[in-house]
Amino acid sequence: MYRVVKRRQLASAPCIVLLEVEAPAVAAKVEPGQFVIVRMDEQSERIPLTVMDFDREKGTITIVIQDVGYSSAMINSMEEGSHFLDFVGPLGVPSEIENLGTVVCIGGGLGVAPVYPIARALKEAGNKLISVIGARSADILILEEEMAAISDELVIATDDGSKGVKGFVTNGLEQIIAQGTKIDAIWAIGPVVMMRSVANFTRPLGIKTIVSMNPIMVDGTGMCGACRLSVGDETKFACVDGPEFDGHLVDFDLAMKRLAFYKDEEERAKVSKDC
Ligand code: FES
Repeated sequence: MYRVVKRRQLASAPCIVLLEVEAPAVAAKVEPGQFVIVRMDEQSERIPLTVMDFDREKGTITIVIQDVGYSSAMINSMEEGSHFLDFVGPLGVPSEIENLGTVVCIGGGLGVAPVYPIARALKEAGNKLISVIGARSADILILEEEMAAISDELVIATDDGSKGVKGFVTNGLEQIIAQGTKIDAIWAIGPVVMMRSVANFTRPLGIKTIVSMNPIMVDGTGMCGACRLSVGDETKFACVDGPEFDGHLVDFDLAMKRLAFYKDEEERAKVSKDC
C-alpha cells in the first residue's frame, strides 16, 4: 500500500492538491518526464499522472491532481496517512536532458507540475533556464516559488491579468523572443489547446518544441491502444512511445477529439467534495 505522507492544497477552485506518496520502488527508478498510474481503491478508475517530484532517499513520489471528475475528486480528498491501492510506475520514456544552451520551460495550468522536474534537470545539466508559467488567474497559479527557485528568469502569464503578463503563456513566450533571446529548445506542458498554440507559434521560427501528451490511458503498457496519437502521420502510443513528442508533428486536433470522447460521462460522474 502506498501511504500519503504529505498533502498540500495548491488551489481551491478548481481544487488542486499536491500529494507526496511513499512508493520506494518507483522513486528508485523514476526520471523527469515519466508518469505513474494510480488507483485509490477498488472502485476508482486508473489515472495517469506525470511525476512532479521524487526523493530517492525518502522513497517518495510527489504528484499534483486537479479535481476534474469523480476519481480525481476522491483522490484530492485523501488525508495524510491514507493509502493508494495501486501506484504503478515509472512509465513512459524519460525526457532527453542535455546541455542545449538556452531552454524555455512552459507550464500552463496543471502543466506546471510535470514541467517542474524537467526544468530542474535541464538547469542542473547546465542550460540557461527561462520558465513561463500561466493560469486563468493568480489564485490558481501553482508552484510559482518552486519554479522561481530553479529558473534564471521566470515569466508569469494570467488570462485575466491578475499577475504578470495579461494573456496566455504564448504571450509570455512572445515577450522573451521580442527581447532577442536565442532559444535552443522549448518544453511546453499544459492543456492540449495551449500546447498546440505554442507549437504553432514556434514552428515558423524553427525552435525545437517538446510537448507532453496526457491522453486517455487504460493499461499504460502499450497493450490497449487507448492512448494512441497521430505524430508525423505515424500512430504512436503515449504510454510507451511518449509521453513527450515533437510538438511540430503532433496532430493536436485529433488528440482533442479523442480526449473529449467521455466528456458527458465525466460530467455526470462529477461529485461535490470539499477541497
Ligand atoms: Fe493502453 Fe497506452 S494506455 S496502449
